[in-house]
Amino acid sequence: MMRLDKMLAHLGYGSRKEVKEYIRKGYVLVNGEVITNDDFKVDEINDEVVIAQEVVNYETNIYIMLNKPDGYISSTYDNNDPIVLDLIDGYEKRGLFPVGRLDKDTVGLLLITNDGKLAHKLLAPKSHVDKKYYLKYSGTLPNDYEKRFFEGIILDDGYKCMSAKLIDLGNNEAYIIIKEGKYHQVKRMLEAIGANVTYLKRVEFGPIKLDNTLKEGQYRFLTEDEINELKSL
Ligand code: URA
Repeated sequence: MMRLDKMLAHLGYGSRKEVKEYIRKGYVLVNGEVITNDDFKVDEINDEVVIAQEVVNYETNIYIMLNKPDGYISSTYDNNDPIVLDLIDGYEKRGLFPVGRLDKDTVGLLLITNDGKLAHKLLAPKSHVDKKYYLKYSGTLPNDYEKRFFEGIILDDGYKCMSAKLIDLGNNEAYIIIKEGKYHQVKRMLEAIGANVTYLKRVEFGPIKLDNTLKEGQYRFLTEDEINELKSL
């Protein structure tokens, strides 16, 4: 058994003060009854708690898509810079972490979850999940760039990338689809053919497309369909 306000705050529905307010205002039901005293004791496993019409599940995994802004670190901790989790309300209580990394200056689609099993599966090198990026570059692409991306770009450290696809859009803009996630991979792939990435935005991760209604810094929860698509990869 646990205090209702403590449980809701713990699950990230707000600070202790905020959830007490929700309870007093009558937004919270336990087993169908409005409960207005915040020290009400709930059985986290067997009681049905509803807040603002959403059923609260103590064990629920959370799946979020964030449109990552420039300047944020894809990590759960950093000494100097803001981290992507700073953008997610109540994250610290829910064990969230980003699924892989985008560079500090890369923007766009970043999945955030507390489902370690799924994240592990998505990030495993043998999973080969397609990642699609939109990019701007300086310099000129060599004539044989398509073939070189297809056959596998050799990076500065001698690593041969898996087959990738670069779609030049003209005007020094392109899409690139890669199946790996090595450190600075896209930037280094472009460098290897004599160009420089000046802007990088991830637009797809496997079956998940960045929701273009999300402004940079905004996030939303994945839909059931999106979660199922990820799980069935
Ligand atoms: N490739 C990069 O170079 N940077 C990223 O953030 C992601 C892919």
